[in-house]
Amino acid sequence: MERLQKVIANSGVTSRRKAEELILAGKVKVDGKVVLELGTKVSEKAKIEIDNVLITREDKVYYLLNKPRGVVTTTKDEHQRKTVVDLIEGEDKRIYPVGRLDYDTTGIILLTNDGELANLLMHPKNEIEKVYIAKIEGIISPVDLMKLKNGVIIDGVKTRKAKVKLKRNDKINNSSIVELTIHEGKNHQVKKMFEAIGYNVLKLKRERIAFLDLTGLKSGKYRKLNPKEVKRLYSLTNNN
Ligand code: URA
Repeated sequence: MERLQKVIANSGVTSRRKAEELILAGKVKVDGKVVLELGTKVSEKAKIEIDNVLITREDKVYYLLNKPRGVVTTTKDEHQRKTVVDLIEGEDKRIYPVGRLDYDTTGIILLTNDGELANLLMHPKNEIEKVYIAKIEGIISPVDLMKLKNGVIIDGVKTRKAKVKLKRNDKINNSSIVELTIHEGKNHQVKKMFEAIGYNVLKLKRERIAFLDLTGLKSGKYRKLNPKEVKRLYSLTNNN
């Protein structure tokens, strides 16, 4: 038996918080009856409807993909470009990416049909660490590295404190390699952070999400997470 809002969130249709709103609004039926009480326990076999539409409950799957350049992080692209979901072969469950990487960004991305975990990992309150390696145009100064660390203004809001490590200053090619660790996930966050202090990002790769990295995975390759890893991801979140 599981709590109704958790089952709804797990089905991937919406977040747990939204599921609670739907329940309170009288839009959720269990075995044909409207349920208004949050936390109602439901069995594996219970028929759950939202606005009279049956939700499907399926086994959860979790993939870790090394996204190549030139692939979009959506489930479908209106311009028929390849998506991260297309790269996962033989999976008929409705999986989707957790968060986003730009078309030209490479590296680690998770895909799942577990809506609850996806929402938890993306919620800023859970402060899931993401590590990026950025190649930028120009030689970055210590002062600018400090600015990135303390937070810069993007879209009118200051970014939270970040970890910043200079990996290389390449004077010959006029570029620098910087490792940036952030907990937020605003759209184009890393590129905008560098832009805010006057640098253009030439290449961007995400190397790590929490304890997960790309060990053993070439570009375009993926693997399933094991149950221990899934449990560990849940344990990093404020899951209540
Ligand atoms: N920040 C960016 O600017 N792009 C990405 O793809 C990910 C983080």
